[in-house]
Amino acid sequence: MSRETKIVTKEEVALQHEYMSRVRAIIEKEGKHLYALVRTFGCQQNEADSERLAGMAEAMGYEITDQESQADLILVNTCAIREHAELKALSITGQFKHLKAAKPELIIGICGCMVSQEHRLNDIKNRYPYVDFLFGTGEIYRFPELLYRAHGSAGRFFIVEETLGTLAEGLPVKRASNFKAWLSIMYGCNNFCTYCVVPYVRGRERSRLREDVLNEARELVSQGYKEITLLGQNVNSYGKDLGYDYDFSDLLADICAIEGDFIVRFMTSHPKDASKKLVDTIAANKKIARQFHLPLQSGSNAVLKAMNRRYTRESYLELIDYMKTKIPDIALTTDIIVGFPGETEEDFADTLDILSRVRYDNIYSFIYSPRRGTPAAQMEDQIPADIQSERFSRLLELQHAISNEINQTLVGTTRRVLVEGISKNDTGMYTGRCESGRLVHFASDVDLTGEIVDILIERAETFNIFGSVARTGKARVESAQI
Ligand code: SAH
Ligand code: SF4
Ligand code: F3S
Repeated sequence: MSRETKIVTKEEVALQHEYMSRVRAIIEKEGKHLYALVRTFGCQQNEADSERLAGMAEAMGYEITDQESQADLILVNTCAIREHAELKALSITGQFKHLKAAKPELIIGICGCMVSQEHRLNDIKNRYPYVDFLFGTGEIYRFPELLYRAHGSAGRFFIVEETLGTLAEGLPVKRASNFKAWLSIMYGCNNFCTYCVVPYVRGRERSRLREDVLNEARELVSQGYKEITLLGQNVNSYGKDLGYDYDFSDLLADICAIEGDFIVRFMTSHPKDASKKLVDTIAANKKIARQFHLPLQSGSNAVLKAMNRRYTRESYLELIDYMKTKIPDIALTTDIIVGFPGETEEDFADTLDILSRVRYDNIYSFIYSPRRGTPAAQMEDQIPADIQSERFSRLLELQHAISNEINQTLVGTTRRVLVEGISKNDTGMYTGRCESGRLVHFASDVDLTGEIVDILIERAETFNIFGSVARTGKARVESAQI
């Protein structure tokens, strides 16, 4: 057992391809048509992992389904970021008991961040006897081998190895969309914010090689993908472990140099090492969406210190100012944690103050959730739930007013929108996202799903904006209004 980051060798990946062929042969021999369902909780990283799992399942002969009743194989890809995420994953897993009782040959596997924690692994082992196998985030590449074993024998297995994370290339992928794609550029996190479970369940930072990332990006563009979102827990650390002089800004510039009409997004940037070079790179490349997600967590220096965030409100605001100067049309979004241990009324007022100064387009806010094994869970002064939720409401109230005001200023402007499909609320309308990430609704006689379209904004609410098609087809990236 190693405690190092592990680069999975070509031979080890080839072995997994061999297992894929073996499972496929078993299924073909039995003459069955089998279905696989992958349920995903958590962030975009997990969604990207699930697309690899679905790709491997498909390569093994399964058809991917979203119907539980149809499934012969169910994988639950779990999240551990907050207690609520874990409870949801456990509750879904609990419901599968009945499915297994009705269909004993059903194979159930659990993977992802939640089960990469020992106490949760033991929970599944002891309390969910109908779960056939379990594997951690570092063993995703071994899914074919595990499924082969599940097909071949009775018995349950649980594999969470003590590496600090793995990096594997060459696994198949089945993407959920044919116009929007995730592109993981790195895995893991070294930051150890005191509240966060991610470094414990995803291991240390490791970057994919420049050529591997660029080849995948080129392939996506040639397949017609219109939006590529680069993923990493802290994309600004990209390249630091590669041993050559190449950073995230260099990677972004190289991706933008690929010929074609597409939008580039990325997440997440840590404020402590979001550089001015990165801002300049965005300013210089119109293919990069005019949106920047810069998680603040708290506006109080005392709380930031207790969180181990390693920046101050002053340095954060300085970077925001630089960004607004260089890219005046930038839409800013952030993450906020409310009710961190020791947060006083003054600390919270500092957070509200930053919201008023920065004027984010949108915030993602969370009530602090203690995570087992993290330093913050041991801190004194845990904030009572009623105070947390009262602050949370005040935070949302302020932000909703700001979002609404910003949205009103958009009326009369033209925005570049990637059309995502028919509106969920109103089937007569289409929905897309403009570069800022806002949802835009508009009517159209033709199906524009997957196209980049210019929309004239006519009406705005706090969460939605409405408009009409200004010009369809190829919106020229160079001249896009943002
Ligand atoms: N790597 C990213 C964040 C990943 S987690 C970054 O550093 O920005 C996404 C968000 O979940 C975090 O930004 C934080 O706001 C929130 N979060 C993480 N741990 C949490 C916890 N224990 N309780 C509440 N919110 C949490
Ligand atoms: Fe968690 Fe902090 Fe790492 Fe983000 S940077 S994943 S919040 S430890
Ligand atoms: Fe959750 Fe793991 Fe993402 S804990 S937020 S799925 S990295």
